[in-house]
Amino acid sequence: MPRLVVISNRVAVPKARGVAGAQGGLAGALNAALKANGGIWFGWSGQETSDFTGSINYVRSADGVTTATIDLEPQDVEEYYNGYANSTLWPLFHYRIDLTKFEREFGKGYERVNERFADSALPLIEKEDQVWVHDYHLLPLAERLRSLGLTNKIGFFLHTPWPPTNLFVSLPYHERLVRAMLHYDLLGFQCDAWLESFLHYCWKELGATVDYQTGEIDLDGKKTIARAYPIGIDYEFFSSKIDTPEADAAQQRLIASTRNRTAMIGVDRLDYSKGLPERLDGISRFFDRHPSRVRDLVYIQIAPPSREDIGSYQDIRATLEQKAGQINGAQSDVDLVPVRYVNRGYSQEELVGFYRASKIGLVTPLRDGMNLVAKEYIAAQDPEDPGVLILSRFAGAAQQMDCGGEGALLINPHSADDLAHNINLALDMPLAERKTRYEKLIATVRDENVQRWTENFIADLSEIAR
Ligand code: G6P
Repeated sequence: MPRLVVISNRVAVPKARGVAGAQGGLAGALNAALKANGGIWFGWSGQETSDFTGSINYVRSADGVTTATIDLEPQDVEEYYNGYANSTLWPLFHYRIDLTKFEREFGKGYERVNERFADSALPLIEKEDQVWVHDYHLLPLAERLRSLGLTNKIGFFLHTPWPPTNLFVSLPYHERLVRAMLHYDLLGFQCDAWLESFLHYCWKELGATVDYQTGEIDLDGKKTIARAYPIGIDYEFFSSKIDTPEADAAQQRLIASTRNRTAMIGVDRLDYSKGLPERLDGISRFFDRHPSRVRDLVYIQIAPPSREDIGSYQDIRATLEQKAGQINGAQSDVDLVPVRYVNRGYSQEELVGFYRASKIGLVTPLRDGMNLVAKEYIAAQDPEDPGVLILSRFAGAAQQMDCGGEGALLINPHSADDLAHNINLALDMPLAERKTRYEKLIATVRDENVQRWTENFIADLSEIAR
């Protein structure tokens, strides 16, 4: 079995708090793959240094996985992380061209940091290693590594959506970026929709020959395979948290505080892609339409702040504070606050307890690569009394979790009426229907887990001939 070298902007941070969703699950899975195959996880330390030296900090974790990190200069962080990655690519990939910033300096910083990553990672890669690069921060990394003479197999997985061609072409130098991506041997996407957009771009804009069945892209005789690998959660690990005292305490705490009302929960990184203002509009519409039900429902929104140096993230935070305040101003009573809006993160155990105590889970992004909160919410449910998942049709997860109309309740997150209507359905859903839906959903979440995702990707990468 060849060794694995994983490269991503962030590396696993043990016991990191405050990251909503399954960041821990992904870290756990990649850790597991690294443990099984042996190898190294390389990325940015999250620290700044005044002069980039490329010197590597090694940490060997208790479970035997080695992380190797570099520090970046403040200018790198500004132009590459806050700039090109999170003010250009992130909004564009989430269909938010209105928020997309096109700055020449950002592009230069992005290329510089990708070069720095390549230069620093190269000496870590041994002859037979397979390299697996992750996410939009590092789209051109394979090209850089190849230009330094690396001949190992290199795979790439995109955790975000890939936008339709008509949107993507608004990016200056879009051709250059995708041509650089075609230096990977295998490109992985979260679901068919994003894969199809990518293949369409290669055919339409680059004139590549594209086989939609096999995912083979042939550009001037150079071949790359692109496929969908829907990511899952580490089901065993996650469900092992259900019986912990911390999860139990969190569950009891929420049940006690909501008394005889139904708790409805949303857990999202505070990001405009998550559709949080639209969600609050839907909840507000529900209360307006069903005034008698204000006392039936408490909404808990857990939203740890994210990327706080970026203006669009500061704006979304302000908008949410205002909207949550408005709903509570209109609907609260002396003994009742219908919306609890919390800007902090919780441990995985606590989240399991909160999910289990909540009979409705809201996952309503305007656009999302996959969304693992949807899967975690299902994994945490009590099979004898499961909650209902309301899911955006625009999350990658919808492809697997619709279950032919018998899984999650799929909604259009832009429509306050649609959300309000489905909250009402969920509140009244009989136990028998909740159980049938849950059984379909849990089978997907359990079987399409992150181990399978890792194995499928690595198996395909291993099979490709270079
Ligand atoms: C998304 C991205 C990840 C990123 C995470 C947290 O899930 O796909 O690459 O690590 O958000 O964002 P941050 O900017 O804090 O790394």
